[in-house]
Amino acid sequence: MTHPARPLWLRRPDNVAPGIAYGADYNPEQWPREVWRDDVRLMREAGVNIVSLGIFSWARLQPAEHTWRFDWLDEAMGLLYDNGIAVDLATATASPPPWLTAKHPEILPVNERGETLWPGGRQHWRPTSPVFREHALVLVEKMAGRYADHPALTAWHLSNELGCHNIYDYSDDAARAFRDWLRARYATLDALNHAWGTAFWSQEYSDWAQILPPRLATTHPNPTQQLDFKRFSSDALRDYLRAERDILHRRTPDVPVTTNFMIMGGTKGMDYAAWAAEIDFVSNDHYVEPGPQASDELSFSANLTGNIAGGRPWFLMEHSTSAVNWQPVNVAKKPGELARDSLTHVAHGADAVCFFQWRQSKAGAEKYHSGMVPHAGPDSDVFRSAAALGATLRDLAPVAGATREQAPAAIVFHWDSWWAAEADSHPTDRLRYRQEALDWYTAFLNLGIRADVVPLGTALDGYRLVVAPMLHMVGEPVAKELRGYVESGGHLVTTYFSGIVDEHDHVWLGGHPGALRDLLGVRVEEFAPLLDTESVTLDGDLSATLWTERVQVTGPDTAVLSRYATGEHAGHPAVTRRTVGAGSAAYVSTRLGAQGVTAVLDGLAAAAGVTSELPAGVRGGVELTVRRRGAERFAFLVNRTDQPVTVADLPGEPLVGTRGPHGELSLEARGVAVLRLG
Ligand code: GLA
Ligand code: GLA
Repeated sequence: MTHPARPLWLRRPDNVAPGIAYGADYNPEQWPREVWRDDVRLMREAGVNIVSLGIFSWARLQPAEHTWRFDWLDEAMGLLYDNGIAVDLATATASPPPWLTAKHPEILPVNERGETLWPGGRQHWRPTSPVFREHALVLVEKMAGRYADHPALTAWHLSNELGCHNIYDYSDDAARAFRDWLRARYATLDALNHAWGTAFWSQEYSDWAQILPPRLATTHPNPTQQLDFKRFSSDALRDYLRAERDILHRRTPDVPVTTNFMIMGGTKGMDYAAWAAEIDFVSNDHYVEPGPQASDELSFSANLTGNIAGGRPWFLMEHSTSAVNWQPVNVAKKPGELARDSLTHVAHGADAVCFFQWRQSKAGAEKYHSGMVPHAGPDSDVFRSAAALGATLRDLAPVAGATREQAPAAIVFHWDSWWAAEADSHPTDRLRYRQEALDWYTAFLNLGIRADVVPLGTALDGYRLVVAPMLHMVGEPVAKELRGYVESGGHLVTTYFSGIVDEHDHVWLGGHPGALRDLLGVRVEEFAPLLDTESVTLDGDLSATLWTERVQVTGPDTAVLSRYATGEHAGHPAVTRRTVGAGSAAYVSTRLGAQGVTAVLDGLAAAAGVTSELPAGVRGGVELTVRRRGAERFAFLVNRTDQPVTVADLPGEPLVGTRGPHGELSLEARGVAVLRLG
């Protein structure tokens, strides 16, 4: 994997101090001029030193095809610069204006039913539309030309959340581009027919022109066609990203280009591991989804973002000061959460903390989405909390530029396995790839063991323990890599529905888990998923749901760690571990959930020689993350609980937090401390 090349602050305005960037999306076009002046005054008060500008400004910048209006943006850029605020300037192409869609309705996306998605929302454009691209790139050229030398310009914000609403387009443009993509992948129709298994159901293609996106069909469309359409759709947006980026790099080679990823909860369509090398630094947007693992999920996403960035600092482009407006119920943040959420991202490598958005909108679909300046105005807890965070981030200036310190353990994340495991026509439609990975992450947090969440393809040799949950799609190269990892002393853990298919989604024959069967030293003849109403127990009283299997031990050195205690498979192995020289390969054949996985991982980590670096009393209560620059290390301690926690016996100078009379650190409920070590 190659990694981002140009860091944030490569072109820091002369009147902006180095350190952690802090700010928000700023949408001055929604407000009269007098509010702008109030905005910059309050931004200074809150410690804001960067804003993202112009993200949804296309219609204001180009009100008609041959009319351009930059005066207002010039004024906003000037005002921000005069107040020591850098600008992450959007290319403004995210939401096409009404004149464009009226003139060219052929840029509008089409869903799988053949229905047009009309204007009225945003991002209503086909990723593969040549007409859209032509108009958008004219705007990019204009923006780059006009603001190339502006002293406030510090980075380019390419489009916005590519694929948020338009990842899957089934239009004729998409069909054409999909065929081109397939030709590049397979070269011949024979190869495509083989990969797609078209001998099944009379699907053999005799001409490329017969191939379509997986539009609404009578029953399950071909699974490999569906998978390839997912791969294609992610690649098509990446290709669009490159088109904008190439213009920006040509016109402003010294200005880094980024685009905001959405590594969070249910965002599944974009293979960001394959996108990261296209931009100069990684940015992410993250919104908390309420629930028992809400803050674990935040940490998981931040962690994965940091590793997709190759361990280098990245940019938190959006999160919320409080409630959002797009969940079924939009809960306000509790005291301490605004800072804790932000600092958890910083702990995982964010060198910028930004919100959507600066001033809460008065009108429009997001008027109930929180901002840094809420409807109540600056005399509000939200604004005071935001300003207090600005001060905290100033104290963290020494951390800026520090990279992630590799953890002793890792969880492997793989978009192809996510897409393939959750496909239709499977043994159960209840499989949730990301949830399984998150459960293992929660288990590491519960045990106080640092673990990196890394995209598949990351070198594993530095990790003593690697968990590959539901690694469903394992081609021969990946199988070989995992064998090599174990044979050279690594400790691998994998779970049910791993190693089942190759990269074409063809089942490995001879017994499951095909590609990993010999390495794990187990063999499964048949899957036995459970109904929602069913559960079984394992020895040690662990409760299991969703999936079971009759596991036969075949390996020479495979030990049974736990057996099914109830159900059809009572007395048969449920969790196994095969020793391979100094390494091992463990298999968990059922869904144990975060608590059950914690119990299993406790033993597996100990056997791998991986232990917590935290004092015994706070394991599970506190998340530890480390950033480093040379010999200088920064330890972030995040209180995962709603109770105060006291941490004794940790050295280091507090950058955030204070020590008590006996040197102990007291973390408030949801509190954070940062220590400079060595
Ligand atoms: C996304 C978008 C923003 C805004 C937020 C709301 O992240 O990029 O424009 O809509 O969601 O949460
Ligand atoms: C029907 C069809 C078969 C097969 C089975 C699967 O009976 O005729 O081709 O699809 O369903 O249950």
